[in-house]
Amino acid sequence: MTQNAVGVEFTQRLAENPKSAEERAAILANPGFGDYFTDHTAVVDWTVDAEGKGGWHNARIEPYGPIAMDPAAAVLHYGQEIFEGLKAYRHADGSVWTFRPEANAHRFNRSAQRLALPELPPEVFVESLRQLVSVDKDWVPSGDGEALYLRPFMIATEAFLGVRPAREVSYRVIASPAGNYFGGELKPVSIWLSEHYARAGHGGTGEAKCGGNYAASLAAQLEAEANGCKQVLFLDPTNDNAVEELGGMNIFFVFTDGRLVTPALNGNILHGVTRDSVLQLAQDRGLTVEERKITIDEWRQSLADGSLAEVFACGTAAVITPIGELKTADGSLASPAIGSDSVAMAIREQLLGIQTGAIEDLHGWLTRL
Ligand code: COI
Repeated sequence: MTQNAVGVEFTQRLAENPKSAEERAAILANPGFGDYFTDHTAVVDWTVDAEGKGGWHNARIEPYGPIAMDPAAAVLHYGQEIFEGLKAYRHADGSVWTFRPEANAHRFNRSAQRLALPELPPEVFVESLRQLVSVDKDWVPSGDGEALYLRPFMIATEAFLGVRPAREVSYRVIASPAGNYFGGELKPVSIWLSEHYARAGHGGTGEAKCGGNYAASLAAQLEAEANGCKQVLFLDPTNDNAVEELGGMNIFFVFTDGRLVTPALNGNILHGVTRDSVLQLAQDRGLTVEERKITIDEWRQSLADGSLAEVFACGTAAVITPIGELKTADGSLASPAIGSDSVAMAIREQLLGIQTGAIEDLHGWLTRL
């Protein structure tokens, strides 16, 4: 039993057959994204008692492995599920840190409210990360742009086919060593403009981080891949084709007059922690930051008149990835070339520098795990 500062007790059952140091080293030599998982997982259960009161209990670290679940579990039928994504970074002295975990904990609870799942105390969220990293710290990579991706999630495990919020829920965290989300070296990506599918509707789950939003992006993602693109861009066809976000990341535009523009948080758009950090770092650099509606017509127009300097995507997994081209059914909008002196790359280097301890953390964003 591990008692800690916040009074949450995690028991520990360690893996009997963890990966050998050689196997782990081979994975860490080329982690890719999302293919490999560490030896353990953190779990906390939530149930409703006879008086109808829900509570979290049985916090534990256990070996990573399949989840035994009733085939009638609500998550399998109605998708009552939410998740988060954040990273653990190794600093030069070997210590391991994470970035703005309270922001993820807060967003997790907003998603929980929207999906009628129980809220998790933020201190339990942060403690679950600390507990998992404490047993799997050898899995935190130290290569350029690499980190241990942490994936907290919550699923409705109650076996019941009526449509109502589940009374049994499981919170879990898994971890996966990660390099560039798009594989290989960082280079500008091509994105596909989805004109048949929308990602979110007003009053829907657009701003929640729930599996359903990502599942709903996949048909468009297939179209993107069929057209040689890595990601898909969604518009809001009910709002002048306003740019919303990509299948799994937020989008930014840099103008030649020093403005940085990103779609406003209108209920359809994910409250990205990286998005918020980019806005702050851009302001620190003296850029004029605008969170507002930006339409696909403005994108075309500003490209044509030369006022658009850069377009980039951002997210925990993607960090900051330049967008090289937007492909559409009737042609292609090439983005301006993004060089190493671009705003996107400068903010990327600054963000990674803060996260990995090479640049001073003036905003107090880091938490030691
Ligand atoms: C993240 O950036 O953490 C996400 O959850 C997005 C997904 C494309 C991996």
